[in-house]
Amino acid sequence: MRSCKFCWVVALTLGVVVIGMGYFFLFKGNTFLGEDGRTAIVLSEVEKASVLGEMRDMLEGVQIITGAIALNDMEKVSEAASALGMVVANADSPELIAKLPLEVKTLGLGAHVAFDNLSALAKTSEDPNEVLAELSNMMLACISCHNSYRIAIEDIDE
Ligand code: HEC
Repeated sequence: MRSCKFCWVVALTLGVVVIGMGYFFLFKGNTFLGEDGRTAIVLSEVEKASVLGEMRDMLEGVQIITGAIALNDMEKVSEAASALGMVVANADSPELIAKLPLEVKTLGLGAHVAFDNLSALAKTSEDPNEVLAELSNMMLACISCHNSYRIAIEDIDE
């Protein structure tokens, strides 16, 4: 059988392209290293507004949850936590999710799953402090992500 050097070159080149694209979509997302040392995730204006809106909802939710824990109103804790659960992540567009680095996808999804778990814990726990401790623990993910990532706007900040 005659070996086809050209075919091998084409196959190898395609292989490298596929691996590169896989790396880009899975791990790196659409990012660059920002001047403050954090990784900047490049999004459109609309996507940035949607992400920041979600963030403000989370901050507001955390305030409602801590207030309700203080009043031992576990029904309200459960309701506010479940509103920040996977229902929110499921509403995100696939285009936006594709632009996020793997770590951000993982931390982001983890945060929403944690709110669903907190909602369940609030229904069963006898101890408000247990729920508060869990919320405090979950907030390490907020801090971790904010320390490592920021948002940049397409065509403006790149
Ligand atoms: C997966 C990463 C990630 C997680 C987890 C995360 N955030 Fe954020 N958050 C961001 C990024 C990125 C920004 C934009 C920061 C920037 O561009 O400087 C942001 C911004 C914010 C803002 C500013 C909103 C605005 O309008 O400017 C608030 C408030 C916020 N986050 C709250 C939270 C809270 C509360 C939690 C946890 C319950 C949380 N975030 C979890 C990534 C995350």
